[in-house]
Amino acid sequence: MRNVDTVYLRSDAILATLRTRQIGKTLLVLEECASTNDVAEKTASEGAPNGFVVIADQQKQGRGRYGRVWLSPQGGIWMTVVLRPPIVSEILQGLTLIGALAVARGVSSDLGVRARVRWPNDVVVGQRKLGGILAEAKVHGNELSYALLGIGVNGNFHSFPIEGARQQPISLLDLVGSPIDRASLISSVLAEVEQLLDCISTSGEQRFLDLLKQIESSIGRSVIVELEHKSICQGILESYESLTKVSIRTENDQHTIVDASSALSVVYVD
Ligand code: BTN
Repeated sequence: MRNVDTVYLRSDAILATLRTRQIGKTLLVLEECASTNDVAEKTASEGAPNGFVVIADQQKQGRGRYGRVWLSPQGGIWMTVVLRPPIVSEILQGLTLIGALAVARGVSSDLGVRARVRWPNDVVVGQRKLGGILAEAKVHGNELSYALLGIGVNGNFHSFPIEGARQQPISLLDLVGSPIDRASLISSVLAEVEQLLDCISTSGEQRFLDLLKQIESSIGRSVIVELEHKSICQGILESYESLTKVSIRTENDQHTIVDASSALSVVYVD
């Protein structure tokens, strides 16, 4: 792995380009931490407001879905947004998809890179993974206290091979050829998160799904849905039914509705 970005992120550079009402208005920018989700969790438990964002230049113990390690070298975009009720209570299970669409739209608009969403939580260019989303929630009794929207984007470093991976990751440095302005991309992604949350609360889920369909890469693909490494459904991903559910056409033209909110992983086989 070669690091080319020795420029550290600064909160004033991010705040200078921020176009949101609330998300990112209070920010914590760190040179390094274990995981921005962990820092955000601690800060939220101490009362950080809705829209508070933690950003780190590098994470030493970045976490992916299913307990996987998320390598997070200097120069990436590693951040977590704290979201509080009522903003997220209804759509909690759909947060990963919202985050993925926000990243894909931000990358496209800010850099002209054709990033797409791969259901349920990946951002890809072609078939290669550019970023991922880890959404977590703190519940008190039956009430949601806060949600944590963790966003990782391979930024200003060359991607490195992941042993055994079906498809290798890719970074913005690989794609653009020179270091990108991370502060500007962070502002764009945060603006997209806010706009998509607003869009769902004012216009409903269908409008969100219409936006998703313009920039997604999963429909028509052959998938295996697994639970704890065992296949539970295999077929062609046919449509988005809601923020969390897709319809999969299985053998004999059966349609199975799969809900991403359970601990499922999705393998794309074509
Ligand atoms: C995945 O695709 O498995 C999800 C990856 C999520 C990575 C981000 S980086 C910022 C935040 N902090 C973490 O430890 N993980 C998320």
